Amino acid sequence: MVVNSGLQVVGGALTVAGFVATLVVVSPVMTAIVLTSSIPVLIAELGLSRRRGAMEWQLGPAERREFFYSSLLTEVNAAKEVRLYGLSDFLRGRMLTERHASDSARRAMDLRETWTQGGLSLLGAAVVGGGLVWAVRAATQGEISVGDVSLFVGGVMGVQGAVGGLIAGFAGAHHQLLMFDHYRRIVESGPDLPLQARPRPAPTLRQGIELRDVWFRYSDNHPWVLRGVSLHIPHGRAVGLVGRNGAGKSTLVKLLCRFYDPTRGAIYWDGIDLRELDPVTLRRRLAGVFQDYMEYDLTAAENIGIGDLDGLGDRNRIIAAARRAGIHDKLVELPHGYRTLLSRLFMSESDKGDAETGVVVSGGQWQRLALARALFRDQPDLMILDEPTSGLDAEAESRIHEQMRRHREGCTSLLISHRMSSIRDADHIVVIDEGALAEQGKHDDLVARGGIYAGLFRMQAAGYADDDAVTERIPAVRRML
Ligand SMILES: Nc1ncnc2c1ncn2[C@@H]1O[C@H](COP(=O)(O)OP(=O)(O)OP(=O)(O)O)[C@@H](O)[C@H]1O
Ligand SMILES: [Mg+2]
Repeated sequence: MVVNSGLQVVGGALTVAGFVATLVVVSPVMTAIVLTSSIPVLIAELGLSRRRGAMEWQLGPAERREFFYSSLLTEVNAAKEVRLYGLSDFLRGRMLTERHASDSARRAMDLRETWTQGGLSLLGAAVVGGGLVWAVRAATQGEISVGDVSLFVGGVMGVQGAVGGLIAGFAGAHHQLLMFDHYRRIVESGPDLPLQARPRPAPTLRQGIELRDVWFRYSDNHPWVLRGVSLHIPHGRAVGLVGRNGAGKSTLVKLLCRFYDPTRGAIYWDGIDLRELDPVTLRRRLAGVFQDYMEYDLTAAENIGIGDLDGLGDRNRIIAAARRAGIHDKLVELPHGYRTLLSRLFMSESDKGDAETGVVVSGGQWQRLALARALFRDQPDLMILDEPTSGLDAEAESRIHEQMRRHREGCTSLLISHRMSSIRDADHIVVIDEGALAEQGKHDDLVARGGIYAGLFRMQAAGYADDDAVTERIPAVRRML
């Protein structure tokens, strides 16, 4: 579009030059008047294109909000709550408010353009009209010939039209360049993670990972999430991480994956600051299940295989991972086994009732798939499990923990869970409270110490006890957990 407008400007300039040369022959004064009258047109058109560019930029957030509300109204995931809480009119209202806001901004801009361009057309008509009156009078007084009159009229109209085209091309190029600038600002915004010019590839983990006085906040306007955490995750050991909601556990996971750098302090991978390592090679050495794991609208095999794209076609490895995550039996029962699409998103009207086109699996089954995806990674140096079994039934959880214990032998792991029974077998347990490391040690030592961990453990154990005095405390326990 910029190139097109540029060509329009060049073409317009040539045409203007031709008509100006013709008109100068008849009347140099009139030529000057016509050219001068196009200056306000140019100024007004450039002003309009600048305003339109700024308006598009300002409307961005409103249009994103509109998109957000409209997608909530159409997404399968949101459908249950939208229906249960009767949110459709509310969301539709908000979506329309945003739409009306951007429509009225656009309408105001269109009106401004209409008035401005109308005024400029009147100015142009006045110049041509004035010129025509002058030419006719001059012809009647014999100053110019009738042929000159037609040459004059043609010249004035030609100059005006060509100048109009030139200005339109110029304003168009200006507008496109402004929009191009928005595009460039996004494309050139660079990575939010400062990367070293020559980062080192992450070596195999041999000693362990160490957090040294790590402070972190999501931005300068946010409160501190981690406050001076120092922690050692030795190679080949399982570290359990416990803490209340919002304590900073998942944030610590994000720092280990180097999605963010610590605001102060550092994390060392076998003594090398994570900032010196190439994040791509580092992440290849990690595997994990995030608390907000993904459910992909892909086949069952792909849902597991994308944990390591190099092994996507290796059916035996996929089956082994599914077995370990306790989902294999379910997957073989599906209409197309591992090739079954785990989604009804792509069905068409004709195969609506046909389970073969895709199936829906349960929440816990999705979680097992996420776990299988993590286990699919070939011997990761660090396995990060953030609430990997929260949605599993008790039997499945204990079976999976048994499996994981076997799988993680020799593998370094960080396990986060609110279920103390999952954590108690870890080699080392760390308690985070309000972003700071509160306690650490082995399960028995921590229980004997009678601190936060012991309190959480006893309260949870009490939840299972059949004792009135204890049952009364359960609401308080639930609140804490
Ligand atoms: N992307 C983000 N931007 C800003 N603040 C965030 C972001 N993610 C988390 N936080 C804030 O950081 C704090 C710690 O969150 P985090 O998810 O690490 O807690 P958590 O210990 O994992 O809690 P939970 O047990 O509920 O999973 C919270 O107060 C949260 O509001
Ligand atoms: Mg969390």
